[in-house]
Amino acid sequence: MAKVAIMGYGTVGSGVYDIIKKNAEKLCLSSNGERVDLKYILDIREFDDHPEKELFTKDFNDILNDREVSVVAEVMGGLHPAYEFTKSLLESGKSVVTSNKELVATYGVELLEIAREKNVNYLFEASVGGGIPIIRPMHQCLTANNILTIAGILNGTTNYILNEMISKGKTFESALKDAQDKGYAERNPAADIEGHDACRKIAILSSLASGKFVDYNDISTEGITNITSEDVKVANSRGYVIKLIGYAKFTENGRIYSVVAPMMMSKEHPLAKVNGVMNAIMINGDCVGDLMFYGAGAGKMPTASAVVADIVDAVKHKERSKKIFWEKPDENIMASEDDAKFRYVIRTTDSPEKISDIFGEEGNVIDEQNIIFTKPLGTSELKEKLSKLDSVVSYIRFLEDFDNGDE
Ligand code: HSE
Repeated sequence: MAKVAIMGYGTVGSGVYDIIKKNAEKLCLSSNGERVDLKYILDIREFDDHPEKELFTKDFNDILNDREVSVVAEVMGGLHPAYEFTKSLLESGKSVVTSNKELVATYGVELLEIAREKNVNYLFEASVGGGIPIIRPMHQCLTANNILTIAGILNGTTNYILNEMISKGKTFESALKDAQDKGYAERNPAADIEGHDACRKIAILSSLASGKFVDYNDISTEGITNITSEDVKVANSRGYVIKLIGYAKFTENGRIYSVVAPMMMSKEHPLAKVNGVMNAIMINGDCVGDLMFYGAGAGKMPTASAVVADIVDAVKHKERSKKIFWEKPDENIMASEDDAKFRYVIRTTDSPEKISDIFGEEGNVIDEQNIIFTKPLGTSELKEKLSKLDSVVSYIRFLEDFDNGDE
């Protein structure tokens, strides 16, 4: 019998509880016959009406000092005290599984190292893509590959908001409220709509892909707050959609270019069809080619499904560290902002003559409404051109086309 604890009884924590109860037999089977037995739930709030209210504790030391507890699910979110708790648990020889992307992206190097030293596991399948299996595929199934690019819809809340605005004509505020009511949004939804949540997730995937710590502070990040309904209409009328994309490109000289930004793509692009709370991650590896992972990216049960799978994995790998890690690089590994070129769509109220002066060269297209579709530009080239315009209403980059394998 494996004794486990849950830290944090919010949306995900209550989902973890539900799955442990609902699928007890299945979990036992998956854990090679070892029963997953919940011994504690840590939360500072009162849960007097809960059917198993005796499981609740407000004291972290109850879990830390209980030698029977071997696996702890940290689903409290935030950096503190999640960091201190996780570190103490790993140091005391307990495995920790988590959905806390902020913690993994910030302290992953250190926590994974402690897990390795102590021969226990720090697992974080739920930290990226909610219920989508993506960490294990990257860590296990794709290790034969050099990863060349990653492009993903990594935030369910923003994808849901953009979709509700387009398909149901909802306002930004009412779509965000719905996402909060459905349990998709972060406690502070600014993390979703300003792109920080997606940024942490692409940082985790980039660290896994490269084996080097990619600091999310080094990733240029823009959310969806500047996207207007006019941007959406312009995109739609020309056969495009706008999605918040986390993007990483791994250059031949071992550097990483990464950005989080709203991007336009053809309605035929596989990511264009990913709607609502769904996430999708496209990975291009030098041997396998293009792959796409798709599924519910947020919400109680999908996220809890990934957390519980990690609990089972930790039970199965007792005293056998899975040795997932990335190291702090000695030198800067981030590529310059000009190492990746994108096409852009630019809206301006400048005169057609001025637009033509600045963007008249071959490769750029200026349509009948004076909307500019540029050739691929590095960031410096883009900035230089924008600085010559008197007014910039908006500029949005294109996600490069997906090779769908058609001859
Ligand atoms: N707020 C996050 C999202 C939750 O909307 O994707 C899942 O990480």
